[in-house]
Amino acid sequence: MARATRGTRDVWVLHGPNLNLLGRREPKIYGHDTLAAIDARLAALGEELGLRVASFQSNHEGALIDRLQIAMEEADGVVLNGGALTHTSMALGDTIRAMTIPVVEVHLSNLYARERERQASLTAPAAAGVVMGFGPVGYELALRALHDRLRTDRKRGRRT
Ligand code: DQA
Repeated sequence: MARATRGTRDVWVLHGPNLNLLGRREPKIYGHDTLAAIDARLAALGEELGLRVASFQSNHEGALIDRLQIAMEEADGVVLNGGALTHTSMALGDTIRAMTIPVVEVHLSNLYARERERQASLTAPAAAGVVMGFGPVGYELALRALHDRLRTDRKRGRRT
């Protein structure tokens, strides 16, 4: 069924490189929650908000770009943590710039409190907004922000 005629909206959560290691990866920076636990909470919150949430993780830039392009056809919005690709991937930035649906960028850590190389995001300028520094709860804040954005867009009758 075409997206515009459906009641429930689809949100894709895309996690980039090394986020599959959450829980045992530098816990002082990224916390102890696993990615599976974060994704389960997002699915539950999605149900509360009337969103169908699907999560995907890849260590590969091209796989994430492919997913973003498919999301344009199959989803209403995206929550993206691009991991280190955030700081290096002009290609990922270009994809987000081409998107016709909103993308909310999220980072567990506060990039501005970290090394200089992490303070620049090549993807943030193209995102609808950025949530960072709140650990795993940042994903939930991003989903709530996207939900609000989709409701506002629907009222105004616009896609992005
Ligand atoms: C991260 C921050 C990035 O700099 C890092 O490479 C990550 C995780 C975060 O969520 O804080 O993989 O995106």
